Amino acid sequence: MPEKRPPFVVGNWKMHMTVSETRALLDSIVKAVPDLGTARIVVIPPFTALGEAARLLANSSVALGAQNLFWEDKGAFTGEISGPLLRDIGCRYVVVGHSERRQFFGETDITVNKRVHAALRSALKPIVCVGEILEERDAGRTMARVRTQFDGALEGISPEDIRKIVLAYEPVWAIGTGRTATPGQAEDVHAVLREKIAEKYGKEAAACAIILYGGSVKPANSFSLFREKNIDGFLVGGASLEAESFIPIMKEAMKAYKEVA
Ligand code: 13P
Repeated sequence: MPEKRPPFVVGNWKMHMTVSETRALLDSIVKAVPDLGTARIVVIPPFTALGEAARLLANSSVALGAQNLFWEDKGAFTGEISGPLLRDIGCRYVVVGHSERRQFFGETDITVNKRVHAALRSALKPIVCVGEILEERDAGRTMARVRTQFDGALEGISPEDIRKIVLAYEPVWAIGTGRTATPGQAEDVHAVLREKIAEKYGKEAAACAIILYGGSVKPANSFSLFREKNIDGFLVGGASLEAESFIPIMKEAMKAYKEVA
């Protein structure tokens, strides 16, 4: 494996943040950017704040993403949002297959795969989430679960398109619980995911792939997680809602990067 990839940190705001809260938070993030070196930063506001976020980030290196998309490009699908609409408002990334969508909104590996293809069609980079539930971990089925999710989500993805995809390992038991995976637990799964990319798309694609960890990432654990060889950054939920926690997470990742790169 070549040198460590620079930190890639994504703030998933979930169903939080009004337009005025968005303004305040993005103002702080944009001001912090010069201190964050080569880190890649992506913010994922709710749909209602995307327009304002796009305006505020127009001259910034902070990229914009959305939390979900439908797999059709247009049509009579009340309540859904398409890739072309997200692209039009300024999104570059879109989260696909988050465990909350799998748990509460019936997403399956098949519908996740349709969304990945739809995102790529609209030149959006999908951030594809995988992760086991606690019962699966306790039963020793973590690796089998994430392998199946990987295969399902990436069905029909070409070697060219794999380079546009960001993977996120988010163990469901660690999301919003304060119970983070240990660096070792996360690294083991990240290594398996990178191996999967190597098997299917070759070593070079695997070496370039971005694989994020998500699940109770905080300033206090981001340094030790990022030091792991196969952890390229974070998909942050709760701690991304405040500049006081999100910015230190990025700084800690940068510190770890400088140490190990
Ligand atoms: P928390 O950081 O709140 O655990 O959420 C993680 C997550 O689901 C990000 O997508």
